[in-house]
Amino acid sequence: MTDANELTVRLRAEADLPRCVEALAGVQAADRYPVDWPADPAGWLTPHGMTDAWVVVASADVVGHMALTPPGLALATATGLPERRLLAVARLFVSTCARRRGVAALLLDRAIETGAARGQTPVLEVETAASAAIGLYERAGWRHVGTSTADWTTADGRLARMRAYVAPAVPLNSSRSNCS
Ligand SMILES: CC(C)(COP(=O)(O)OP(=O)(O)OC[C@H]1O[C@@H](n2cnc3c(N)ncnc32)[C@H](O)[C@@H]1OP(=O)(O)O)[C@@H](O)C(=O)NCCC(=O)NCCS
Repeated sequence: MTDANELTVRLRAEADLPRCVEALAGVQAADRYPVDWPADPAGWLTPHGMTDAWVVVASADVVGHMALTPPGLALATATGLPERRLLAVARLFVSTCARRRGVAALLLDRAIETGAARGQTPVLEVETAASAAIGLYERAGWRHVGTSTADWTTADGRLARMRAYVAPAVPLNSSRSNCS
């Protein structure tokens, strides 16, 4: 278990990657996120064009992870905003042992703060079956702006259906924990 008061949110460093991969392995086993284990997990955690990545650390463990990337055309189309005005949240996950303690909410807050500093609005896509993630985004005030069909197959053999979300202008969750 982790104590919410001991959580630290900070930029991911190169040296964090092995612990991020370890955390991802537990998430993949529990949730099939990602659906298939990547051949290069550290590379998967560093998607093309990534501007930065954030981790939540408790004691010595990485318990949460989020990358920020350019949005891509589908998300820009769903929001109706130019790509340069958007910042996409990707590779968001929390270790099973640290869930329902506000870890992901803290990362979403950081995305909003980062976007505000850069004049960009955070956006993201989530598969329709990811009920925990959808619950998280809607609780945090993110707005559903459209649903589209993707070109990859879910763990249960369907073509993925992706819900697009836009962040609120200010974080709703900042008061949940003392984090740096
Ligand atoms: C989705 C995920 C990131 C949530 O992480 P988390 O740190 O447990 O979420 P938080 O504790 O910040 O949750 C904040 C709120 O989101 C909602 N929420 C979170 N998990 C939920 C769940 N399993 N079911 C319903 N609502 C949920 C709740 O409203 C929660 O507030 P509460 O605990 O006071 O009820 C985590 O379950 C995960 O890593 N899932 C697998 C990977 C994944 O789906 N990533 C997203 C890809 S788009």
